[in-house]
Amino acid sequence: MTEQQRFTAATEAVNAGRSVNDGALSAPLWTNVVWEAGDASIAAAQADAVRPDRFYGRYGNPTVTAFTDAIATLEHAEAALAFGSGMGALATTVFALCSNGDHVVASDRCYAGTRALLDGPAARLGISTTWVDATTPGAVAAAVIPGRTMLVIVETPSNPLLDLVDLDEIGNITGPFTMVDSTFATPLGQRPLDYGIDLVMHSATKGIAGHNDVTMGVVAGERELIDTIWGYSTIHGATPSPFDAMLALRGLRTLDVRHERQSTTAVHLARQLQSHPGVTAVHYPLLDTHPRAELAARQMTRGGSLLSFELTEDRYAAFVDSLTLIRCATSLGGPETIVCQPSTTTHAHLSVGDRLAIGISERLVRMSVGLEHVDDLWADVAGALTP
Ligand SMILES: Cc1ncc(COP(=O)(O)O)c(C=O)c1O
Repeated sequence: MTEQQRFTAATEAVNAGRSVNDGALSAPLWTNVVWEAGDASIAAAQADAVRPDRFYGRYGNPTVTAFTDAIATLEHAEAALAFGSGMGALATTVFALCSNGDHVVASDRCYAGTRALLDGPAARLGISTTWVDATTPGAVAAAVIPGRTMLVIVETPSNPLLDLVDLDEIGNITGPFTMVDSTFATPLGQRPLDYGIDLVMHSATKGIAGHNDVTMGVVAGERELIDTIWGYSTIHGATPSPFDAMLALRGLRTLDVRHERQSTTAVHLARQLQSHPGVTAVHYPLLDTHPRAELAARQMTRGGSLLSFELTEDRYAAFVDSLTLIRCATSLGGPETIVCQPSTTTHAHLSVGDRLAIGISERLVRMSVGLEHVDDLWADVAGALTP
């Protein structure tokens, strides 16, 4: 935790991350890659520095620092590190912390890219993974192999069923580093580090940047751990663009109002969907019917922009073709409301058996709620649900 004065998250989102502004009210965009050293001793100091942002673009950049400082403040972290994508953040962290022979415990509801990373390149390099149902109390801790498990990765809420993992339980695991993918919650929906978790990561591509025009990732935690990940990041090279960092920071400034509006609209739509005859189930953390509603109330301040629901019949194509406002696309956290069919998009790589085992049928619709008026959205959904 930093010693600085604390404000509410909404205020911190607007004001954090200004140390590099030099009087400018919003963060300047430094596009240069190379910084002059002045003399030989400064050049040596630049090359030796940890996370320098005025040396060479792959090592750091002041516009990126403005963004990571703001994320560190919001996440109650000592430091944060940005990457060219959420997958860049995940891959760099895994390979920075794990070596041949090490073991990872990961939630089986993690993002498909996380699964592909751990089952593919990580496994090939001798890093094994045990996949667990992290929603079952005690399951993650039980899978930890003392002395061998180096990293625990969970995602909460998860994609696309909004399953929740108990942050307190993960924070109490001793031995391995623990990391939470908090992308769906955003830094305003929950704070994993407050529960004793070592690292929180986000695909900043989603709610943080918030306008579907940036690809970025970020990891936050204790300075020493972030410095270690940074060391590997300089050779892994998933460097973020300063321009994207500027846009992501601009997105962060309005995250509170966007997130509040999206969460309010999402819970309203979720309740309407629950009482519609064309829908058999609705998944949203703040619904009373959520299997871990009590946990949602305990660890989340808002439900977030994502919900999912199951159609009574196998008519996803007809449903989507009947929508007139909501678009068909695969991402989340942006201003436009979009829907996708997880079975044919985000989870298409799974076998039918594996997919059904984690509750993803062809009738499941995932919706990222945007900033349109709730009445227009409900009219569109209700119209498309009616055969
Ligand atoms: C939960 C989650 N984590 C990580 C990622 C990867 O992020 P990116 O697409 O920015 O690489 C995604 C992308 O959809 C995601 O949904």
